[in-house]
Amino acid sequence: MDPLTATSTTARRPVRRRRYLLCPPEHFAVEYAINPWMDPARPVDRVAALRQWRELAAVLRGLGHRVELLDPEPGLPDMVFTANGATVVAGRVLVANFRHPQRAGESAAHRRWFAGARFRQVRTAAEVNEGEGDLLVAGPRILAASGFRTTPAAHREAQRVLGLPVVTLQLTDPRFYHLDTALAVLDESRVMYYPDAFSPASRRLLRRLYPDAILADARDAAAFGLNAVSDGRHVVLPDGARGLARQLREAGYTPTPVALPELQKAGGGPKCCVLELRSA
Ligand code: ARG
Repeated sequence: MDPLTATSTTARRPVRRRRYLLCPPEHFAVEYAINPWMDPARPVDRVAALRQWRELAAVLRGLGHRVELLDPEPGLPDMVFTANGATVVAGRVLVANFRHPQRAGESAAHRRWFAGARFRQVRTAAEVNEGEGDLLVAGPRILAASGFRTTPAAHREAQRVLGLPVVTLQLTDPRFYHLDTALAVLDESRVMYYPDAFSPASRRLLRRLYPDAILADARDAAAFGLNAVSDGRHVVLPDGARGLARQLREAGYTPTPVALPELQKAGGGPKCCVLELRSA
């Protein structure tokens, strides 16, 4: 059967080769607390963080994807989470405008990288916007969240600049402070999410938009299972999210577990470390 037209869940799902931006956690630390996972009193092993991050990069390369690197900068301990630095659609880049001053310096680093990498258009958000942390490209639309970081005004700005319709969702649980901690895009038409992270109205909207979504339970959500990177077939997710891995396998995807326990101390997982560079 042609994988591009296959609809059976047992058929191999079509995969698209992706281009990703990553940043090695050379200056990674938990020095401040801007989400409930961060505890500056708890020690962080930077060598282990680097080792775990290298494994993630190797997994992505092993799946055939192109990994590009952003130079880490001292004084920006969260810079490893490149997903928060921008949103890229069809070669157009909307650089983030971070909510917390501790991360503000990351915007300039992303701006410089994109300026040097010949993208069609590079703009910095005027509104508070944390990139793919809260703005997830899902086929014909962008799923956008607010509640903790990115604002509704930033959703409207993203729609204007990136040229895709934006669907606004409301996050309500501070543990799931970015959309990519509560929802993952699996392919053009399918997502997985943790319903309890959203307001009742957003839950209803998600049910209507994605009647066949995979739903995470509280345990898998707390294991950062929704912080996943999908290429349409392989879904790279934290190894603790066993129930999601099983559901993904049953739905015809290939779960690809990785372990990033050090980065999780900052409230991040695999998806936070990966910014997708979508060309025109
Ligand atoms: N410590 C970072 C913050 O709170 C973690 C960011 C994780 N990134 C993500 N895409 N969820 O901003």
